[in-house]
Amino acid sequence: MSTFAIPTPFQWDPSFDVKSDQINEQHKKLFELINDLAAHKADAGKLKALLDYVLMHFKTEEDLFHAKHWAADKSAAHKAIHDKFVSDAVAATANGVDDGVIAFVKNWLVQHIKGSDMQYAGQI
Ligand code: FEO
Repeated sequence: MSTFAIPTPFQWDPSFDVKSDQINEQHKKLFELINDLAAHKADAGKLKALLDYVLMHFKTEEDLFHAKHWAADKSAAHKAIHDKFVSDAVAATANGVDDGVIAFVKNWLVQHIKGSDMQYAGQI
């Protein structure tokens, strides 16, 4: 689903503000890591750097859901979206990274921040 436009150039802007400095900084880094991978698609280290950061980021959010006592049903549903992205991303990149993979990851990040992360803005 592509409800929200993909920014060009691909970078964080205030429309992605989820009212948490810590999470905003992590989201900015995700934009940077995706751009870095897009510029070096054959570099397995760039892919690993992105996937490792994604895992760290998801854990940060999920830990905050728990620490801030965010609604358990919303928290569980959000975690399920995270888990699906990880498995989809691993499968999509198993044979390398091409323009289609980059488009998939860019689209996922934008739709996820604006469609899902925004739901916790101001609450975690
Ligand atoms: Fe910022 Fe739910 O990932």
